[in-house]
Amino acid sequence: MKNKILIFSFLMFVIHQLNAQSKIDPATIKNKMQWFADGKLGIFIHAGIYSVNGIDESWSFYNKKISYADYMKQLNGFTLKNYDPSLWADIIKQSGANYCVITTKHHDGVAMFDTKMSDLSIVKSSPAKKDMIQPLFDELRKRDIKCGAYFSLLDWSHHDYPGFLKDSNKYKLADDYERWNKFRLFFQSQIKEISVKLNPDLWWFDGDWEHSAEQWESEKVRNIILANNPKAIINGRLQGYGDYETPEQNIPVSRPKYNWWELCMTINDNWGFQFADKNWKTPYEIITIFTDVISNGGNLLLDIGPKADGTIPDEQIHVLKELGAWNKRNGEAIFNTIAGIPQGHFYGPTTLSKDSTILYLFLQGNISGDISLKGVNNKIEEITVLGNEIKLNHKIVGKISWSSVPGIVFIDVPQNVQDEYVTVLKLKLDKPISLYRGKGGFE
Ligand code: GLC
Repeated sequence: MKNKILIFSFLMFVIHQLNAQSKIDPATIKNKMQWFADGKLGIFIHAGIYSVNGIDESWSFYNKKISYADYMKQLNGFTLKNYDPSLWADIIKQSGANYCVITTKHHDGVAMFDTKMSDLSIVKSSPAKKDMIQPLFDELRKRDIKCGAYFSLLDWSHHDYPGFLKDSNKYKLADDYERWNKFRLFFQSQIKEISVKLNPDLWWFDGDWEHSAEQWESEKVRNIILANNPKAIINGRLQGYGDYETPEQNIPVSRPKYNWWELCMTINDNWGFQFADKNWKTPYEIITIFTDVISNGGNLLLDIGPKADGTIPDEQIHVLKELGAWNKRNGEAIFNTIAGIPQGHFYGPTTLSKDSTILYLFLQGNISGDISLKGVNNKIEEITVLGNEIKLNHKIVGKISWSSVPGIVFIDVPQNVQDEYVTVLKLKLDKPISLYRGKGGFE
């Protein structure tokens, strides 16, 4: 019996992996992915009625921390009375982000845009009485920032959405396909509304785990979007029909093998605004994580949670401003670059210019003194510190004249050239980088 259970679990795992595997050929999307690959930084916004009480977005009623009725009462407190989309767009621009993704509908089913498909929207059922997405997209586009729509496929409010784990009152999909068809028509119509009205540059689906690609009709959903905007980018939470991967909160240690990926991460410990959550990540921590991510070929989607009156908390603005100032000083090493050299050559993150003739080294922890770099076959023509253009000296150690194995480069980094957060060194190479990856024998 135990064996049977094990075999069954293994088969389920294999089926899940096969389902999750991307059905999209990377060669066919390479062109449209370019702005995303170059853009590196996005701001994620979790705006929703959960900010009224300051509780978990949707999950609070799912996990029965609050009743569904009380959760929905938050609609009455969602005023947006100080919402200033042009100020939001300014703050996002200042952070250095090139794209922004906002929740158009979370798992609670409350639409943040003007939907004709239901009354459950902040336009029809909250004192805010307005669509918050359209004006933000308009302001972002004025500032050349790409616009992304987060959309939860699953909808724990819709009466035709079938039972989910903790709610046994709802019907089972297998018992009533007609109702499921009604729900499908509903959510796909909302996707059409968003497509036509807001024309997102990027779609950020979520909640695909409750159903399969066939059940969601993922391929059809993808086609609906691409029919309206063939260049739209779709994240990987569409049961295999997305363009890129989305690890969440957890930072990969080794370089992921994906073509494109994006780490989404909260600025404190929660996606939405919560009064009690004061565990803000510092600008230094965010910058360190950001450099780690881009060094491994990914993007960072940094989440903020605005308040129910439409203001962005000061602590969040502070981090975005500091991150932006650092990006300004060091942007050359970040935007429009490619992933750096593999681990082992330098103890820290790196990036490369697109032609690989410039190597950027990110110095974490305010280090100074002699830092080392090994296994680079190139001649280094010049080393400068970004932001102040100070030139640094370097020395090659352990280069044996008759061996092709490169020596170790020691770079003298004085104390007074340090960036406030993470110092970036620019190494101009004689030609595209060539790496020695051998065992150091008589080569
Ligand atoms: C998870 C959660 C959701 C959150 C999302 C952001 O999937 O369900 O609450 O919005 O992550 O990545």
